[in-house]
Amino acid sequence: MIEIKNLTKVFTSNGNKIVALDDVSLTIKKGEIYGIIGLSGAGKSTLIRCINMLEKPDQGQIFIGGKEITALSGRQLRKERSKIGMIFQHFNLLSSRTVAGNVAFPLEIAGTPKAQIKERVNELLYLVGLADKANMYPAQLSGGQKQRVGIARALANNPEVLLCDEATSALDPQTTKSILALLQDINKRLGLTIVLITHEMEVVKEICDSVAVIDNGKIVENGPLVNVFAHPRTEAARRFIKGVIQIDLPEEVKEYHLRQVDDSKSAVIARLSFIGTSAGEPVVSSLVRHFDVDANILAGNIDHLKDVPFGTLVVELRAKNGGLDKALKYLAERGIEIEVFNDEPTSA
Ligand SMILES: Nc1ncnc2c1ncn2[C@@H]1O[C@H](COP(=O)(O)OP(=O)(O)OP(=O)(O)O)[C@@H](O)[C@H]1O
Ligand SMILES: [Mg+2]
Repeated sequence: MIEIKNLTKVFTSNGNKIVALDDVSLTIKKGEIYGIIGLSGAGKSTLIRCINMLEKPDQGQIFIGGKEITALSGRQLRKERSKIGMIFQHFNLLSSRTVAGNVAFPLEIAGTPKAQIKERVNELLYLVGLADKANMYPAQLSGGQKQRVGIARALANNPEVLLCDEATSALDPQTTKSILALLQDINKRLGLTIVLITHEMEVVKEICDSVAVIDNGKIVENGPLVNVFAHPRTEAARRFIKGVIQIDLPEEVKEYHLRQVDDSKSAVIARLSFIGTSAGEPVVSSLVRHFDVDANILAGNIDHLKDVPFGTLVVELRAKNGGLDKALKYLAERGIEIEVFNDEPTSA
């Protein structure tokens, strides 16, 4: 759906060159919710603004639905741009227009006949749950309601893509949830492709199908949410994911158990990951039954990466007569991912 190839954007301010995007390539599939994460200044907004050509890239190409929008200008570009909706952190509503007036605005610009505008506005307000607020002004609305107006306005011209730049960052957790539910609903119902920037990892974890991590203008990691969140390869990615997924050993395990295990030749501390299943404990108990191994569960939790259950269990495994390797192999054969933390033995 969206194909970004070797995109580069350089800003010059006070004679200094700032490389905001550095050879960025990405593919966003039709109908998916694609998250972009990165530190402040990493280039997220610049990237999303290039997708609708609010920002003109210096190099590279962007294709939307097979059409190269970086090659268009003038009327053609405006036409293609109408297929891309955008919502913002601070909503960017027109304060002098009513809710209905705000939603009607892009339709007026597109030259839609009046009667049709009225009908479409009603339909959109109904879709976002604001049918009863048509005649109110933005100042009379809560943040969540304002964002709903923003969403209705962005959808007015039936876009194929919705770009969201920190769309829930100004909202409280409860309101964020309701806006995310609305985004998921329109994603499913309208088959809309959604690209969202956020610094809230909970948001990514809950609704994104895929994610890209951008650091200093470069994409350092990207792929399906489960892959990136369960197996971050870069420090940049780990930094974000750490807050919502336990990817490191809990402190108390680190300090106490690792020290103890270090003394032993026949024990390991391992983190077992169960992706797509939640059957942690039965596997461990069957391990104990089949092998001459003691298992001590030190920590564990079950999470969800969008719809996929993701469980982790930190265990201390102690083999009475050797055979730890076999026990770890048994776990691996059951599709469990194993990370051994002390270095005795490492053949997992
Ligand atoms: N119009 C501009 N003129 C000059 N420099 C700019 C301009 N827009 C962005 N930049 C610079 O480009 C870099 C990337 O900015 P961008 O706004 O894309 O970051 P971001 O990842 O969206 O950050 P944040 O999370 O704070 O919104 C920054 O160093 C920023 O200062
Ligand atoms: Mg930004």
